[in-house]
Amino acid sequence: MTEPVKDAARPVCVPRDAEYLAAVEDLLAHPLVRSMEEYTQHGDTSCLRHCLNVSYLSWLYCKERGWHAGEAARGGLLHDLFLYDWHRHAKETGEYFHGYTHPRRALENADRLFRLTEREKDIILHHMWPLTVTPPHSREAYVIVMFDKYCSLMETFHKPLLQRVATQEWIPSRPAQAQ
Ligand SMILES: [Fe+2]
Ligand SMILES: [Fe+2]
Repeated sequence: MTEPVKDAARPVCVPRDAEYLAAVEDLLAHPLVRSMEEYTQHGDTSCLRHCLNVSYLSWLYCKERGWHAGEAARGGLLHDLFLYDWHRHAKETGEYFHGYTHPRRALENADRLFRLTEREKDIILHHMWPLTVTPPHSREAYVIVMFDKYCSLMETFHKPLLQRVATQEWIPSRPAQAQ
């Protein structure tokens, strides 16, 4: 597992949405979640920013429909918690199947750090479907599948995401300890 960021208490730009933040703040306060800032995911988007994009869009979508928005937000924020630079991973480790293997790595990391619901586990483990053959079991996991692909495309081509969403710099009130 990677080294946690040195200062997990530094501000992070998040949607100005108190209900959303209440659903994810314990995750966002964790140094290993914040360490996703250190890794580029797509284009010039960090892994943490990508996860926040997927998490918030999935939260809005599920909330509007009365689905399990909190679990969608939490699963979305943790779905890529694999904690390495995938651009260098194959060369450094000889493991050439990041696309297939990283959901399980993310789930193992998330499961070690947090108490996950079955739906959150489903979201993380099956977010790469249909590349990974087993389909999700919940509609919230399908929402993450959809927004993960949408955000990945927009980030890769440097297109704006969440540009109409008001944001704020957020600092955890009680930074969690790395485990
Ligand atoms: Fe992923
Ligand atoms: Fe992703």
